[in-house]
Amino acid sequence: MSEPAAVVVLVSGSGTNLQALIDACADPAYGARVVAVGADRDGIEGLARAERAGIPTFHLKVKDFDTREEWDAAMAGAVAAYDPDIVVLAGFMKLVGSTFLALYGGKVVNTHPALSPSFPGMHGPAEALAYGVKVTGATLFVVDPGVDTGPIVAQRAVEVAPDDTVETLHERIKIAERGMLVDSIGAMAREGFVVEGRHVRIGGLDPLD
Ligand code: GRF
Repeated sequence: MSEPAAVVVLVSGSGTNLQALIDACADPAYGARVVAVGADRDGIEGLARAERAGIPTFHLKVKDFDTREEWDAAMAGAVAAYDPDIVVLAGFMKLVGSTFLALYGGKVVNTHPALSPSFPGMHGPAEALAYGVKVTGATLFVVDPGVDTGPIVAQRAVEVAPDDTVETLHERIKIAERGMLVDSIGAMAREGFVVEGRHVRIGGLDPLD
């Protein structure tokens, strides 16, 4: 069996998506390994989850840099130290910039709690609820310079219940999101993937090595 794909995960919060990936990686057949976890802040459960799993961590705060560009370059450098095959933004509440994408463009995926192209940005579950949609969900996409606009890897649908609050809806979306993330990253790691315009094709390729 070839080496597992090296995955760096960036987080900003509770890290339940990260935990799902860490748990999946415990199975050697999964085909991926979380080699480091980074964040834009400290004191978060996401970093604590990584530490408990013995995974190296780092955090870089925007406010500790003179410019956003310098922060972006530092983030890119910190990630590069782990030479990842895939970078997963899992609840990472910052946009990565041009230096980061120049290094990792096409290999960075982000998970978003809405069905793209609906409700991009920070408030997907709240905006879906306010709009009155009956179905929303989660989207995994390859990051481009826009806000939640990149080519779509996978989507999972979640029905909106009449009595949903933002919290109950987001919690159900997150269950779907974790399954989507684990299934997709495993498939990408084992089967390889390529971005062709708006389309992401998994499989039929050499596995990542
Ligand atoms: C996820 O729903 C993610 O899409 C959104 O914030 C949530 C992060 O959850 N941006 P967690 O930190 O993985 O628990």
